[in-house]
Amino acid sequence: MKVLPLKKRGVETSRLVLGCMPFGGEWNKDPITDQNIKDSEAALDAALEIGINLLDTANVYRWGKSETIIGKILKDRPALREQVIIQSKCGIRPGENGLPTRFDFSKEHIIEAAEASLKRLDLDYMDILLLHRPDPLMDPEEVAEAFGKLKAQGKVRYFGVSNMNVSQMQFLQSALPDELAVNQLEISLSHLDWLDQTIHVNQKAGQNVHFGEGLLEYCQLENVQIQAWGPLSQGIFSGRDVSDRPETVQNTAKLVKQMADEKGTTPEAIVLGWIMKHPAAIQPVIGSIKPDRIKACQDGEKQAELMTREEWYSLYTSSRGKPMP
Ligand SMILES: NC(=O)c1ccc[n+]([C@@H]2O[C@H](COP(=O)([O-])OP(=O)(O)OC[C@H]3O[C@@H](n4cnc5c(N)ncnc54)[C@H](OP(=O)(O)O)[C@@H]3O)[C@@H](O)[C@H]2O)c1
Repeated sequence: MKVLPLKKRGVETSRLVLGCMPFGGEWNKDPITDQNIKDSEAALDAALEIGINLLDTANVYRWGKSETIIGKILKDRPALREQVIIQSKCGIRPGENGLPTRFDFSKEHIIEAAEASLKRLDLDYMDILLLHRPDPLMDPEEVAEAFGKLKAQGKVRYFGVSNMNVSQMQFLQSALPDELAVNQLEISLSHLDWLDQTIHVNQKAGQNVHFGEGLLEYCQLENVQIQAWGPLSQGIFSGRDVSDRPETVQNTAKLVKQMADEKGTTPEAIVLGWIMKHPAAIQPVIGSIKPDRIKACQDGEKQAELMTREEWYSLYTSSRGKPMP
């Protein structure tokens, strides 16, 4: 297995990441309940038990409740702070209904949002800050000023992006003193554009593929950690009822189950192992809040090592539902 780009930068991260988007219950401004905290702490403990040390959150998750809960847990268990890596995001401005109304990479917003995140997290610094979704009004110089200030003040150690293509990364990077450390993208066995982009070069069939051209290669060349959001495909290949889903989904779920049974592992480990076999050393960001489901992911890295090329392609083509070009 390749060394993770984040590790090459000195960040001692686990291979899997815990997505903390569900911390905080419903997506509303209701107060955090004791049950919300209990559920989140149980998820965090399950993650720690299987060696996960990177927690992914965002200023907008559950209207800030995700960050607040992480802060409360760390306050109760201060020894944990040095054991975990905290990654948050900024750049989305939600409206009253909680949905994004606009993106904002202005210097003021980045600084204010990061400081507000730190307040909710009850921390002096966060390890990694990502720009959540590309802002068409992005001015790299302005972003550089914001990042520079946050870094100089010791509030953020590393910076990265999410859902950006190569040109956007290069444009932004041109003004930044530090290298972008992370790009978090939707990558899974159900969201296949990341691979279809590779196999459709020079082909008309690739015209509807929506994944930045050359992005995987660029990130590998530039030592950018690719993180996969949505890696479990919301469970459609690992136990969720898919009787009303297309045949390709049902067949792929059966194939995943069959492989898991043959290998004495879980469907989650097969689905994640399939992503982790890619040479870009992708870090899946798992979004379950259920301790058992989180623990079912533990074997993913081992399954990536054991998975043959034939098995990997059988999963890819099954989910594609059409032959290779
Ligand atoms: N950068 C971005 O733009 C972006 C966007 C979205 C998410 N993210 C990050 O990525 C993380 C993961 O994203 P995600 O939640 O979309 O990914 P996911 O890990 O693919 O899906 C997790 C969701 O699927 C459900 N699930 C999994 N297996 C299931 C099964 N067998 N049966 C029923 N439900 C099942 C989980 O429910 P349970 O909790 O009940 O297990 C949870 O709601 C988030 O937490 C967040 O940190 C980033």
